[in-house]
Amino acid sequence: MKTKDLLRHLNWRYATKTFDPTKKVPEKEFEALLEVLRLTPSSFGIQPWKFIVVKNPEIRTKMRPFSWDQSQITDASHLIVLCRISESKIEEHIEKYVLDKVKIGDLEPAKIQAYRERMLQTVRSKDEQELKTWLRNQVYIALGNILTSCAVLDIDSCPIEGFDKEKVDELLELPKVGLYSVAICAIGYRSLDDKHATMKKHRFPLSEVIMEA
Ligand SMILES: Cc1cc2nc3c(=O)[nH]c(=O)nc-3n(C[C@H](O)[C@H](O)[C@H](O)COP(=O)(O)O)c2cc1C
Repeated sequence: MKTKDLLRHLNWRYATKTFDPTKKVPEKEFEALLEVLRLTPSSFGIQPWKFIVVKNPEIRTKMRPFSWDQSQITDASHLIVLCRISESKIEEHIEKYVLDKVKIGDLEPAKIQAYRERMLQTVRSKDEQELKTWLRNQVYIALGNILTSCAVLDIDSCPIEGFDKEKVDELLELPKVGLYSVAICAIGYRSLDDKHATMKKHRFPLSEVIMEA
């Protein structure tokens, strides 16, 4: 892709407020977007997440009042809840990750052990709050990745943090399985009467956001 095409896509995308409920993202493209989530980089490559595709329309209807009544929750073609694993599961997760890495066989056993130690040390050096924040931060990388990928595929999206996490977690029975929601991503196609589509992009100029050192 040429530079100008990349920037055209990123200028075209916007946080879609009104989706056309009749337009569905083709399954092949949606599957590619799930692969985008899977391929997201994370600290140590640890992938402390799960991405829940909410397929049941009844659940989406129930989620909407917990999400500032945002219409994207029910009207977008697809809805994904991006979750982090519980901080209490992190060491178990690291052990699973290490076993998986052993299976791949691209690192010598001694190196894998050193890597395991480093990961454990890192998570043990954080207090509970820091660990939660660190886990959440990993999930935001996946969110950024899918937003950009949607844009490149001419698919609209809306990142959503405006929701009551406790209520959504309870509805989806996430804590039972050691998960907590971080953000939601609504995916689909803009409605032609979404006024936000034609609003000017509001970003600070490059001279204000880039510094050199
Ligand atoms: C983490 C995050 C959470 C957001 N939550 C919401 C939300 O709940 N509802 C919404 O309509 N937009 C939400 N937005 C969209 C932002 O308001 C929007 O990205 C920002 O104003 C920039 O505009 P643009 O994305 O249209 O260029 C969120 C964006 C991010 C990155």
